Amino acid sequence: MSESYNVIAIDGPAASGKSSVAKALARRLGFVYVNTGEMYRAVTWQVLESGVDPKDMDAVRACIAEMNIECGVAGQQSTVSVNGASPGDALVGEGVNASVSFIAKVPEVRQRLVDLQRAYADRCDAVMEGRDIGSIVFPDTPYKFYIDASEEVRAARRAKQGLKDSIGQRDKQDTTRRNSPLVIAEDAHVIDSSHLTVDGVTGEIIGRLKMKGFLSSDF
Ligand code: CDP
Repeated sequence: MSESYNVIAIDGPAASGKSSVAKALARRLGFVYVNTGEMYRAVTWQVLESGVDPKDMDAVRACIAEMNIECGVAGQQSTVSVNGASPGDALVGEGVNASVSFIAKVPEVRQRLVDLQRAYADRCDAVMEGRDIGSIVFPDTPYKFYIDASEEVRAARRAKQGLKDSIGQRDKQDTTRRNSPLVIAEDAHVIDSSHLTVDGVTGEIIGRLKMKGFLSSDF
């Protein structure tokens, strides 16, 4: 796979802090921030809107075959719309939280979204966050990070955001699925963010990118 622009892959479990870090890093580097979880969430939202049972794989397959999914960039951030609509706050709603990991298991869903994710590397430098970015979407990028945090810290972070989320259940589904499970890519640099601030984690990534010669020492 030959990507023409740089991709920095940031993977990790639910509420590990990867979104805040990926956003902050993208801002500092002037790269586009690409949130792949949002894409799985948008598809899930449309499946639910269509009245399809998210656990019925055949019905989900039929539903996604009809879906028009568009991914773009606005103000240095990725955007996603499904059948012309952007779901907004519903993306992080309870319904989507409870169903997204079922939808993310369906191979046809992953293939559609992985193709759209890879297309970003043809148009811009990107910091891309998800579950399989370093392992499957961009296995050849030399810049891979895996951000973790203890289960208690992650649950507390989600609660502080005021969001009802089934992170334990999603983690279980995401790590045990047959197709592209959440794994630590062999060459990923692992950071435990349990006791670090967003700036702390971002600083560690920048330090690593300097060590690799990707950023100059005076960045
Ligand atoms: O931010 P948070 O940890 O809550 O999750 P997210 O990144 O918004 O992802 C939501 C769900 O989408 C995950 O629980 C996975 O089931 C799925 N996902 C995935 O399978 N692969 C990705 N690259 C990104 C998300």
